[in-house]
Amino acid sequence: MKINLIIIFLVLFSLLSDSTDLKCTNISSDIFETLKPLSNKGPVTRCYNLELVIKEMAPDGYKRPVWTVNNQYPGPIIQANYGDRLLINVSNKLGEPSTIHWHGIFQTGTNFYDGVPGLTQCPIPNNGHFLYNFTVKQYGTFWYHSHFEGQIVDGLKGPLIIHNPKDPYLKEYDFEYVITLSDWYHMPAGDIHPILLSPSYLGGDPIPNSGEISGIGQFNCSDSTKKSCNPNNGVATYSVKKGKKYRFRIICTSAAAHFIFSIDEHPLTIIEVDGHLIEPVTLKTIPIHTAQRYSVILNANNSIKNYHIRAKFTVCTPIDNNQTINYNSSVNYNVVGILKYEGTKAKTPISKPYPLKTSDECRDVNPNILKPYKLKPPQCVTHKISLMVAFGKLATTGTIAFINNSSFVPNNYYPSNRKIINGINLHKFSQYENAYGYDRYFTNANDCKDAAVDIYITVNTSRSHPFHLHGHSFFVVYNGENQTGLEPPHPSSFNLIAPAFRDTVTVLGNSTTVIRYYIDNPGVWFMHCHMHWHLIKGMAVQFIELPSIIMNMTIPQDVFEYCAS
Ligand code: C2O
Ligand code: CU
Repeated sequence: MKINLIIIFLVLFSLLSDSTDLKCTNISSDIFETLKPLSNKGPVTRCYNLELVIKEMAPDGYKRPVWTVNNQYPGPIIQANYGDRLLINVSNKLGEPSTIHWHGIFQTGTNFYDGVPGLTQCPIPNNGHFLYNFTVKQYGTFWYHSHFEGQIVDGLKGPLIIHNPKDPYLKEYDFEYVITLSDWYHMPAGDIHPILLSPSYLGGDPIPNSGEISGIGQFNCSDSTKKSCNPNNGVATYSVKKGKKYRFRIICTSAAAHFIFSIDEHPLTIIEVDGHLIEPVTLKTIPIHTAQRYSVILNANNSIKNYHIRAKFTVCTPIDNNQTINYNSSVNYNVVGILKYEGTKAKTPISKPYPLKTSDECRDVNPNILKPYKLKPPQCVTHKISLMVAFGKLATTGTIAFINNSSFVPNNYYPSNRKIINGINLHKFSQYENAYGYDRYFTNANDCKDAAVDIYITVNTSRSHPFHLHGHSFFVVYNGENQTGLEPPHPSSFNLIAPAFRDTVTVLGNSTTVIRYYIDNPGVWFMHCHMHWHLIKGMAVQFIELPSIIMNMTIPQDVFEYCAS
C-alpha cells in the first residue's frame, strides 16, 4: 500500500515537473513597445498557446467581428532565438476549421507542420487542438497566418520574430520595434468570396475600407450606416529617444494591397529582407508587397518633434467597373502613423514627406540592390519548371486564375504528403492539385552535390503578382519587365553575382521572373500569389520536393488526426 502511494506520488511529481518544464504561455504583446530581449542561454524550447477566437473589434473605428489570436489583432508577437524549438499549441474556437502557417520558416524535416490544408495536414476543426512543433535554424522577421479560406483577411495573423544573439548588425541599433501594414475590409471574407467567385461577377478585386499601420486605421464614419463607428480612432504611434537607433521590422500582412512605406525626414537603411541579412542599403521610400518584410535602421537624430509615418497603398488589380466589391469605398489610401520623439507634446506632425514615385507602385525594391550578406546563388541547376500565370473562365465559373491552364483546388481532407507516403504517384494526383515534382539525380557521378531548380514564373496578365514559396528562400536571378512576346529569358541574362534572396517576389505584368533554390528540403511546398483574392481563385501550385525521401518520412500520427479515415 505504502509503496503504491509512493509510486503514485513519484508519477504525479514527474508529471508535474514535466509540465513545469514545459510551461506554455498564453502570450500577448503590445506592438507599440520595443521588443524585450529574450534570455539567451543557448537553444531552448518555448511553448506558446494560441487560442483562435472571433471577437468584436474596431481596428479602424468600425466595429465588426475580427478573427483574433488570444483576443488580439494583429496577433501577439511570437519571439524565439536561433536554434530554439517552438511548441505552438493552437486551440481553435472559431466555430469553423483553421490551420496556421509560419510564413518564411523552412520547416526543414518538419514539412508536416507547415500548416497548409490539403498539402501538409487536414484542417483543425472547431474545438480541435493542434500542436505545431519545429526548430528554427534561421533568424529574422517572419509572420504567421491562417491558411484556411479567408481567415487571413479577417485578422488571423501576427508577427514571428527570430533573434540571433550573434546578429552581426546588433551594434547598429539600440532598440527594436515591429510594424505591420495591412488593408482592411468591413465585409468578412466569407461574405466577399461568393460574390467574387460568382459566374456573373464582372468587377475587380474588392476595394478595402481602410489601410492600417500595426492594426490601427482611420475610417470616415459618415460613410457608415452603423452607429458603432468611432470617427476618432487612435493613430499608430511609435516613440523614440533622440540620439538612439531603432530597428523597425516592417511586415506587410495585407490581404492584397501593396504599400509604399516611409518616415518623414528619416531615411531608412535596409539590413534584412524576408529573414535574410543584406549589405545595408539606404532608401527614403520602400515599396513592399503583401507577405514581404524589411528590417530598417532609423537614426533618431532629427529635431525633437513628431513626424509622420506614411504607408500609401494601392489596390494593384484595376477597378474594372462599378460591380467591383465595395466600389464606393471612401477609403483613404494615404495611411499615416506618428513617429514621436520623447519630450515633445503630442500633436499632429508638421513634417515633410518624401516624394513618392508612382512607378514604385505594385512592385518590389529593385532585387539587384538587395545584396545578400555573405551568400552566393547555386550554379548547378538540374531542374527547370515553367509556369504560365493567367486569368480566365470555365463554363461554370466566373473569372478564376490559371497556372499552366489549371486552376488550383485543394484536396483538404487528403493532403499530398499523406498521398505520397500511401504510395500514390504524382501523376495520379488530380489535375487541379497543380502538383509538380522534382527529385535529385543520384545516378550520375558527375552530378553536382548541391543541385538547384529554376522556376520560371511568367505572368500573362497586365498587372503584377507577389509570389511566395513555402519551405525555401530563393535567389531572384531574373526579374523581367515588359518582355515582348513573353519569350523566356536566356540564362546569360541572369544576375548570378548578388541577386536578392527572399521568399516573396513580385512578378511584373507581362513578364517573367526566374527564382533559383537548392533542392534540399524534402516536403510538399505551396507556391502561390499572396494576394488573397488571387489565391482563392486558384493562383497556386504545389511542389513535391524529393518525393523519394518524403515516401520514407515518418509523419507524427497527430498530423492526420483530423483527416477522414
Ligand atoms: Cu504567407 Cu502560403 O503563405
Ligand atoms: Cu496575384
